[in-house]
Amino acid sequence: MRETVYVLGGGQTRFGELWNSSLSDLIHEAVDQAIEKTKIMPTDIDAVVIGNMLGGETTGQAHLGTLVSGFLPHHPPALRVEAACASGGLAVHTACALLESGKAETILVVGAEKLTDVSGDRITSALMHAADAEKDAPSGLTFPGIFALSATAYMHQYGISREDLSLVSASTHRAALKNPFAQFRKEIPPEAISKSPLVADPLRLLDCSPVSDGAAAVILSTRRESPVRIAASQLSSDCLSLADRPSLTSFGSTRTAMSRALAESGFDRNSIDCIELHDCFSIATLIHLEDLGYCEEGDAIRLFKDRDTEADGSLPVNLSGGLKACGHPIGATGVKQVLDCFKQLTRQAPNQVKGAVRALAHNLGGIGATCTIHLLESSF
Ligand code: COA
Repeated sequence: MRETVYVLGGGQTRFGELWNSSLSDLIHEAVDQAIEKTKIMPTDIDAVVIGNMLGGETTGQAHLGTLVSGFLPHHPPALRVEAACASGGLAVHTACALLESGKAETILVVGAEKLTDVSGDRITSALMHAADAEKDAPSGLTFPGIFALSATAYMHQYGISREDLSLVSASTHRAALKNPFAQFRKEIPPEAISKSPLVADPLRLLDCSPVSDGAAAVILSTRRESPVRIAASQLSSDCLSLADRPSLTSFGSTRTAMSRALAESGFDRNSIDCIELHDCFSIATLIHLEDLGYCEEGDAIRLFKDRDTEADGSLPVNLSGGLKACGHPIGATGVKQVLDCFKQLTRQAPNQVKGAVRALAHNLGGIGATCTIHLLESSF
């Protein structure tokens, strides 16, 4: 980073089926909280960046940048960015780039999505807009179907069992128990996960992140200091279609973004104290841990068997409850991950990692076609 970008703080709505709130209500709530928690004057905000994928499709509301700008008395310049499930991470990355360029000194970054007011069928096909419309969608694939292909290949290649896979969701559901913003706050034993209804073989209901509504907001600044800075902000892209990929069990975009983020920050990956990663499906967690370089291919399940991923383990993962148990309101997720990292680094996390100084937020879009990685460091 050429300029130091500080995270001043932020706020979020609860994630879930929030039928009494519109997309605009959700954004308003997250923005109000971010302004209140950071104690900045709204007029200190020089620009707004919002990440959202399906606002026009599910609510009829597009032009979201200007919608948010309208909530502020001085109507700062605003833009909306989209990279499917990585829209939130892209919003943070775009804001970092604007801050580094000097175009703005304080930016309100928002992520938001409203999915549950339309039918499940419509959401399933709308989410497929994130894949290749000519090469992937005509085959009838859905996102659970795509990750089921990954899970089948992974289980075949590395010999992990259905019961092994269930350890992943059980761990994130356990973590979410303490998170007041999570969609699901109940402990679910691995046996119940293995027996939950089949969605796309071998993935079951409790392997899948849910369909959710929600919004999150953070305020980034080069002008005002805070104990937490962004040490690296990286965006990487891969080909859009699954058909053009060399592997079903690895995402090149994660590998590229991680190696660039480590180079940008100068961090050793083992100095990172906690990770929020994009667990859209249980199998994805295992793949991401390997792509991030924390273990050999086929070995990630060992981290769950040994409980290394818990708050007091050697590699705490998704202590917020991740996408699986917190919910996954597409555009909101990447911003909420940065907020969760901020909470860890300022000792405000519900599942606090003792003495956490460095945190990683990993957000994936489409079938791994886009990846953002943010590394945060605290001087708290
Ligand atoms: N995890 C835990 N519980 C879930 C859940 C999930 N993913 N999805 C639904 N539930 C619960 C609901 O709360 C409901 O509980 P209740 O009966 O106590 O109210 C019950 O399971 C049935 O919910 P329903 O909404 O009818 O489920 P569904 O069959 O319509 O949808 C999925 C389930 C898994 C198909 C849907 O959540 C899905 O498509 N998830 C993936 C979303 C996706 O692809 N995101 C992009 C990722 S890249």
